[in-house]
Amino acid sequence: MEIVLSGIRSTGKLHLGNYYGAVRNFVKMQHDYKCFFFIADLHSLTTHPKPGNWIESVKQVLCEYLAAGIDPDIATVYIQSNLPEVSELYLILNMLAYKGELERTTTFKEKIRLQPDNINAGLLTYPVLMAADIIIHRANKVPVGKDQEQHLEMTRNLAGRFNKLYGVDYFPLPDAFNFGKDLIKIPGLDGSGKMGKSEDNGIYLSDDAKTIEKKVMRAVTDSGPTQMNQKMPEPIKNLFTIMEVVSTTDTFGHFHDKYNKCEIRYGEMKKQLSHDINLAIEPIRQKVKEYSSNPEYLRKVIKMGQEKAHESASKTLHEVREIIGIKEF
Ligand code: TRP
Repeated sequence: MEIVLSGIRSTGKLHLGNYYGAVRNFVKMQHDYKCFFFIADLHSLTTHPKPGNWIESVKQVLCEYLAAGIDPDIATVYIQSNLPEVSELYLILNMLAYKGELERTTTFKEKIRLQPDNINAGLLTYPVLMAADIIIHRANKVPVGKDQEQHLEMTRNLAGRFNKLYGVDYFPLPDAFNFGKDLIKIPGLDGSGKMGKSEDNGIYLSDDAKTIEKKVMRAVTDSGPTQMNQKMPEPIKNLFTIMEVVSTTDTFGHFHDKYNKCEIRYGEMKKQLSHDINLAIEPIRQKVKEYSSNPEYLRKVIKMGQEKAHESASKTLHEVREIIGIKEF
Protein backbone atom coordinates (compact mmCIF):
# COMPACT_ATOMS: atom_id res chain seq x y z
CA MET A 1 0.00 0.00 0.00
CA GLU A 2 1.28 3.46 -0.82
CA ILE A 3 2.40 5.59 2.07
CA VAL A 4 1.04 9.12 2.40
CA LEU A 5 2.45 11.60 4.85
CA SER A 6 1.39 15.07 5.78
CA GLY A 7 2.88 17.54 8.22
CA ILE A 8 0.77 20.09 9.98
CA ARG A 9 2.29 23.25 11.37
CA SER A 10 1.78 23.29 15.11
CA THR A 11 0.67 26.89 14.80
CA GLY A 12 -1.76 25.93 12.07
CA LYS A 13 -5.23 26.14 13.51
CA LEU A 14 -7.65 25.28 10.74
CA HIS A 15 -9.46 27.77 8.57
CA LEU A 16 -12.23 27.00 6.10
CA GLY A 17 -9.67 26.76 3.30
CA ASN A 18 -7.72 23.99 5.08
CA TYR A 19 -10.84 22.19 6.11
CA TYR A 20 -12.67 22.06 2.81
CA GLY A 21 -9.39 21.82 0.91
CA ALA A 22 -6.97 19.28 2.29
CA VAL A 23 -8.40 17.99 5.54
CA ARG A 24 -11.64 16.58 4.20
CA ASN A 25 -9.58 14.75 1.61
CA PHE A 26 -7.31 13.38 4.34
CA VAL A 27 -10.36 11.96 6.03
CA LYS A 28 -11.30 10.04 2.89
CA MET A 29 -7.73 9.07 2.09
CA GLN A 30 -6.99 7.43 5.40
CA HIS A 31 -8.97 4.40 4.26
CA ASP A 32 -7.10 3.94 0.99
CA TYR A 33 -3.48 4.57 1.97
CA LYS A 34 -1.20 4.04 4.91
CA CYS A 35 -1.38 7.56 6.28
CA PHE A 36 0.91 9.43 8.63
CA PHE A 37 -0.26 12.78 9.96
CA PHE A 38 2.05 14.57 12.31
CA ILE A 39 2.25 17.90 14.08
CA ALA A 40 5.43 19.71 13.06
CA ASP A 41 6.37 21.33 16.32
CA LEU A 42 10.15 21.30 15.78
CA HIS A 43 9.85 23.34 12.61
CA SER A 44 8.16 26.11 14.52
CA LEU A 45 11.23 26.52 16.76
CA THR A 46 12.78 28.47 13.89
CA THR A 47 10.71 31.44 15.00
CA HIS A 48 11.48 31.00 18.72
CA PRO A 49 7.95 30.61 20.14
CA LYS A 50 7.44 30.95 23.90
CA PRO A 51 7.74 27.60 25.75
CA GLY A 52 4.39 28.18 27.42
CA ASN A 53 2.59 28.24 24.08
CA TRP A 54 3.63 24.77 22.99
CA ILE A 55 0.95 22.73 24.70
CA GLU A 56 -1.91 24.98 23.62
CA SER A 57 -0.94 25.07 19.96
CA VAL A 58 -0.28 21.35 19.71
CA LYS A 59 -3.50 20.54 21.51
CA GLN A 60 -5.53 22.88 19.34
CA VAL A 61 -4.24 21.37 16.12
CA LEU A 62 -4.67 17.83 17.39
CA CYS A 63 -8.26 18.39 18.52
CA GLU A 64 -9.21 20.09 15.28
CA TYR A 65 -7.88 17.27 13.13
CA LEU A 66 -9.62 14.67 15.25
CA ALA A 67 -12.82 16.69 15.15
CA ALA A 68 -12.56 16.98 11.38
CA GLY A 69 -12.57 13.20 11.16
CA ILE A 70 -8.98 11.97 11.20
CA ASP A 71 -9.20 8.57 12.88
CA PRO A 72 -6.14 7.79 15.03
CA ASP A 73 -7.04 4.09 15.00
CA ILE A 74 -6.65 4.05 11.23
CA ALA A 75 -4.06 6.72 10.46
CA THR A 76 -0.89 7.30 12.45
CA VAL A 77 -1.19 10.62 14.25
CA TYR A 78 1.86 11.83 16.15
CA ILE A 79 3.96 14.76 17.27
CA GLN A 80 7.23 15.34 15.43
CA SER A 81 9.25 15.91 18.59
CA ASN A 82 8.07 12.54 19.93
CA LEU A 83 10.04 10.84 17.20
CA PRO A 84 13.77 11.34 17.84
CA GLU A 85 14.60 9.28 14.74
CA VAL A 86 13.54 12.27 12.66
CA SER A 87 16.18 14.46 14.27
CA GLU A 88 18.91 11.93 13.62
CA LEU A 89 17.93 11.48 9.99
CA TYR A 90 17.85 15.28 9.70
CA LEU A 91 21.44 15.39 10.92
CA ILE A 92 22.47 12.77 8.39
CA LEU A 93 20.66 14.52 5.54
CA ASN A 94 22.30 17.81 6.45
CA MET A 95 25.56 16.30 5.27
CA LEU A 96 24.01 15.88 1.84
CA ALA A 97 22.41 19.31 1.56
CA TYR A 98 24.37 22.07 -0.14
CA LYS A 99 24.45 25.57 1.27
CA GLY A 100 23.80 27.07 -2.15
CA GLU A 101 20.64 25.14 -2.87
CA LEU A 102 19.30 25.88 0.61
CA GLU A 103 19.97 29.59 0.20
CA ARG A 104 18.11 29.58 -3.09
CA THR A 105 14.90 28.24 -1.53
CA THR A 106 12.07 30.71 -1.93
CA THR A 107 10.74 30.18 1.58
CA PHE A 108 14.19 30.87 3.06
CA LYS A 109 14.49 34.13 1.14
CA GLU A 110 11.01 35.06 2.32
CA LYS A 111 11.84 34.21 5.94
CA ILE A 112 14.99 36.28 6.08
CA ARG A 113 12.93 39.16 4.83
CA LEU A 114 10.33 38.59 7.56
CA GLN A 115 12.73 37.98 10.44
CA PRO A 116 16.02 39.74 9.60
CA ASP A 117 17.09 39.63 13.24
CA ASN A 118 16.81 35.85 13.49
CA ILE A 119 18.34 34.24 10.44
CA ASN A 120 19.29 30.98 12.14
CA ALA A 121 20.63 27.80 10.56
CA GLY A 122 17.35 26.05 11.34
CA LEU A 123 15.63 28.36 8.89
CA LEU A 124 18.21 27.50 6.26
CA THR A 125 17.82 23.77 6.81
CA TYR A 126 14.03 23.85 7.26
CA PRO A 127 13.59 21.85 4.02
CA VAL A 128 16.07 19.24 5.26
CA LEU A 129 14.03 18.64 8.38
CA MET A 130 10.96 18.37 6.19
CA ALA A 131 12.76 15.83 4.00
CA ALA A 132 13.61 13.82 7.12
CA ASP A 133 9.94 13.91 8.18
CA ILE A 134 8.94 12.46 4.84
CA ILE A 135 11.57 9.84 4.15
CA ILE A 136 11.75 8.53 7.71
CA HIS A 137 8.61 6.55 6.78
CA ARG A 138 9.76 6.15 3.16
CA ALA A 139 6.58 7.93 2.09
CA ASN A 140 5.55 7.94 -1.57
CA LYS A 141 3.01 10.72 -1.59
CA VAL A 142 2.86 14.05 0.19
CA PRO A 143 -0.17 16.33 -0.10
CA VAL A 144 1.31 19.82 -0.26
CA GLY A 145 0.18 23.24 -1.33
CA LYS A 146 1.98 25.27 -3.98
CA ASP A 147 4.16 26.97 -1.36
CA GLN A 148 5.64 23.63 -0.28
CA GLU A 149 6.38 22.16 -3.71
CA GLN A 150 9.94 23.40 -3.73
CA HIS A 151 10.53 21.68 -0.39
CA LEU A 152 9.25 18.44 -1.83
CA GLU A 153 11.60 18.81 -4.76
CA MET A 154 14.42 19.23 -2.26
CA THR A 155 13.24 16.04 -0.55
CA ARG A 156 13.47 14.18 -3.84
CA ASN A 157 16.95 15.59 -4.43
CA LEU A 158 18.18 14.57 -1.00
CA ALA A 159 16.62 11.11 -1.19
CA GLY A 160 18.08 10.60 -4.66
CA ARG A 161 21.49 11.86 -3.54
CA PHE A 162 21.48 9.44 -0.62
CA ASN A 163 20.63 6.53 -2.92
CA LYS A 164 23.33 7.54 -5.38
CA LEU A 165 26.07 8.20 -2.82
CA TYR A 166 25.60 4.83 -1.17
CA GLY A 167 24.73 2.94 -4.35
CA VAL A 168 21.35 1.80 -3.08
CA ASP A 169 17.76 2.06 -4.18
CA TYR A 170 16.49 2.65 -0.69
CA PHE A 171 14.44 5.82 -0.46
CA PRO A 172 11.49 6.30 -2.80
CA LEU A 173 11.37 9.75 -4.39
CA PRO A 174 8.09 11.16 -3.06
CA ASP A 175 5.59 12.94 -5.27
CA ALA A 176 3.10 15.62 -4.46
CA PHE A 177 -0.31 14.13 -3.82
CA ASN A 178 -2.65 15.91 -6.10
CA PHE A 179 -6.31 15.85 -5.15
CA GLY A 180 -7.21 16.97 -8.66
CA LYS A 181 -10.86 17.84 -8.97
CA ASP A 182 -11.50 16.79 -5.38
CA LEU A 183 -9.61 19.82 -4.15
CA ILE A 184 -11.99 22.62 -3.28
CA LYS A 185 -10.26 25.97 -3.24
CA ILE A 186 -11.71 28.41 -0.74
CA PRO A 187 -10.97 32.03 -1.62
CA GLY A 188 -10.24 34.76 0.88
CA LEU A 189 -12.79 37.41 1.76
CA ASP A 190 -10.53 40.30 0.86
CA GLY A 191 -11.41 40.32 -2.78
CA SER A 192 -8.81 38.12 -4.38
CA GLY A 193 -6.60 35.10 -3.83
CA LYS A 194 -7.07 32.13 -1.56
CA MET A 195 -7.84 31.92 2.10
CA GLY A 196 -4.64 31.64 4.08
CA LYS A 197 -3.08 32.27 7.42
CA SER A 198 -0.35 34.52 6.13
CA GLU A 199 -2.88 36.50 4.14
CA ASP A 200 -4.77 37.11 7.39
CA ASN A 201 -8.11 36.70 5.66
CA GLY A 202 -9.18 33.43 7.18
CA ILE A 203 -12.34 32.25 8.88
CA TYR A 204 -11.22 29.74 11.47
CA LEU A 205 -13.08 26.70 12.72
CA SER A 206 -12.45 28.09 16.19
CA ASP A 207 -14.06 31.47 15.40
CA ASP A 208 -17.37 32.00 17.18
CA ALA A 209 -20.57 33.05 15.43
CA LYS A 210 -20.05 36.76 16.14
CA THR A 211 -16.49 36.76 14.80
CA ILE A 212 -17.59 34.94 11.67
CA GLU A 213 -20.38 37.40 11.07
CA LYS A 214 -18.00 40.32 11.50
CA LYS A 215 -15.52 38.84 9.07
CA VAL A 216 -18.13 38.02 6.45
CA MET A 217 -19.81 41.42 6.72
CA ARG A 218 -16.43 43.06 6.10
CA ALA A 219 -15.87 41.07 2.89
CA VAL A 220 -15.18 43.17 -0.17
CA THR A 221 -18.13 43.71 -2.51
CA ASP A 222 -19.11 46.34 -5.07
CA SER A 223 -22.17 48.41 -5.84
CA GLY A 224 -23.87 45.48 -7.55
CA PRO A 225 -24.54 44.30 -11.10
CA THR A 226 -26.17 46.68 -13.55
CA GLN A 227 -26.88 44.28 -16.39
CA MET A 228 -28.74 41.00 -16.43
CA ASN A 229 -26.47 37.94 -16.21
CA GLN A 230 -23.44 40.11 -15.82
CA LYS A 231 -20.08 38.39 -15.34
CA MET A 232 -19.10 38.36 -11.67
CA PRO A 233 -16.07 40.31 -10.55
CA GLU A 234 -13.69 38.25 -8.40
CA PRO A 235 -14.75 39.44 -4.91
CA ILE A 236 -18.38 38.56 -5.65
CA LYS A 237 -17.51 35.27 -7.27
CA ASN A 238 -15.56 34.43 -4.11
CA LEU A 239 -18.61 34.90 -1.91
CA PHE A 240 -20.58 32.60 -4.19
CA THR A 241 -17.79 30.02 -4.17
CA ILE A 242 -17.92 29.82 -0.38
CA MET A 243 -21.71 29.79 -0.43
CA GLU A 244 -21.71 26.89 -2.84
CA VAL A 245 -19.68 24.90 -0.32
CA VAL A 246 -21.47 25.73 2.92
CA SER A 247 -25.06 26.55 1.95
CA THR A 248 -27.85 24.44 0.48
CA THR A 249 -28.28 24.28 -3.29
CA ASP A 250 -31.53 26.21 -2.92
CA THR A 251 -29.91 29.05 -1.03
CA PHE A 252 -27.07 29.23 -3.51
CA GLY A 253 -29.53 29.18 -6.43
CA HIS A 254 -31.67 31.86 -4.81
CA PHE A 255 -28.85 34.38 -4.50
CA HIS A 256 -27.36 33.46 -7.84
CA ASP A 257 -30.70 34.20 -9.42
CA LYS A 258 -30.95 37.51 -7.61
CA TYR A 259 -27.53 38.43 -8.91
CA ASN A 260 -28.46 37.58 -12.47
CA LYS A 261 -31.58 39.71 -12.19
CA CYS A 262 -29.64 42.60 -10.64
CA GLU A 263 -31.74 42.31 -7.50
CA ILE A 264 -29.06 41.14 -5.17
CA ARG A 265 -28.47 42.74 -1.78
CA TYR A 266 -25.03 41.85 -0.62
CA GLY A 267 -25.88 42.59 3.02
CA GLU A 268 -28.60 39.98 2.89
CA MET A 269 -26.38 37.49 1.15
CA LYS A 270 -23.61 37.99 3.69
CA LYS A 271 -26.01 37.48 6.58
CA GLN A 272 -27.11 34.20 5.06
CA LEU A 273 -23.53 33.20 4.29
CA SER A 274 -22.25 33.80 7.80
CA HIS A 275 -25.25 31.94 9.18
CA ASP A 276 -24.50 28.97 6.94
CA ILE A 277 -20.77 28.96 7.63
CA ASN A 278 -21.57 28.92 11.29
CA LEU A 279 -24.04 26.07 10.85
CA ALA A 280 -21.49 24.08 8.85
CA ILE A 281 -18.71 24.32 11.40
CA GLU A 282 -20.73 24.18 14.61
CA PRO A 283 -20.60 20.35 14.83
CA ILE A 284 -16.81 20.43 14.43
CA ARG A 285 -16.49 23.17 17.03
CA GLN A 286 -18.52 21.02 19.41
CA LYS A 287 -16.27 18.04 18.84
CA VAL A 288 -13.16 20.17 19.35
CA LYS A 289 -14.60 21.15 22.70
CA GLU A 290 -15.26 17.54 23.64
CA TYR A 291 -11.75 16.43 22.69
CA SER A 292 -10.15 19.41 24.44
CA SER A 293 -11.83 18.51 27.68
CA ASN A 294 -10.66 14.91 27.48
CA PRO A 295 -6.88 15.05 28.05
CA GLU A 296 -6.84 11.38 28.92
CA TYR A 297 -8.09 10.42 25.49
CA LEU A 298 -5.67 12.84 23.80
CA ARG A 299 -2.77 11.32 25.70
CA LYS A 300 -3.88 7.89 24.54
CA VAL A 301 -4.06 9.07 20.92
CA ILE A 302 -0.58 10.57 21.07
CA LYS A 303 0.91 7.54 22.75
CA MET A 304 -0.61 5.19 20.20
CA GLY A 305 0.61 7.40 17.34
CA GLN A 306 4.07 7.60 18.79
CA GLU A 307 4.29 3.82 19.04
CA LYS A 308 3.14 3.26 15.46
CA ALA A 309 5.40 5.99 14.10
CA HIS A 310 8.36 4.73 16.10
CA GLU A 311 7.96 1.26 14.66
CA SER A 312 8.27 2.57 11.12
CA ALA A 313 10.93 5.21 11.88
CA SER A 314 13.27 3.01 13.86
CA LYS A 315 13.28 0.42 11.10
CA THR A 316 14.29 3.08 8.55
CA LEU A 317 16.97 4.56 10.76
CA HIS A 318 18.42 1.16 11.50
CA GLU A 319 18.68 0.44 7.79
CA VAL A 320 20.10 3.88 7.06
CA ARG A 321 22.83 3.36 9.64
CA GLU A 322 23.64 0.02 8.05
CA ILE A 323 23.81 1.56 4.59
CA ILE A 324 26.07 4.37 5.78
CA GLY A 325 28.29 1.80 7.40
CA ILE A 326 27.52 2.49 11.04
CA LYS A 327 27.23 -1.03 12.34
CA GLU A 328 26.99 -2.83 15.64
CA PHE A 329 30.44 -2.83 17.13
N1 TRP B 1 6.42 22.88 5.97
C1 TRP B 1 5.05 22.45 6.05
C2 TRP B 1 4.15 23.71 6.12
O1 TRP B 1 4.62 24.77 6.41
C3 TRP B 1 4.82 21.60 7.27
C4 TRP B 1 5.60 20.35 7.20
C5 TRP B 1 6.67 20.00 7.96
C6 TRP B 1 5.37 19.27 6.29
N2 TRP B 1 7.12 18.79 7.60
C7 TRP B 1 6.36 18.31 6.59
C8 TRP B 1 4.43 19.04 5.28
C9 TRP B 1 6.44 17.12 5.87
C10 TRP B 1 4.51 17.85 4.57
C11 TRP B 1 5.51 16.91 4.86
O2 TRP B 1 2.97 23.59 5.88
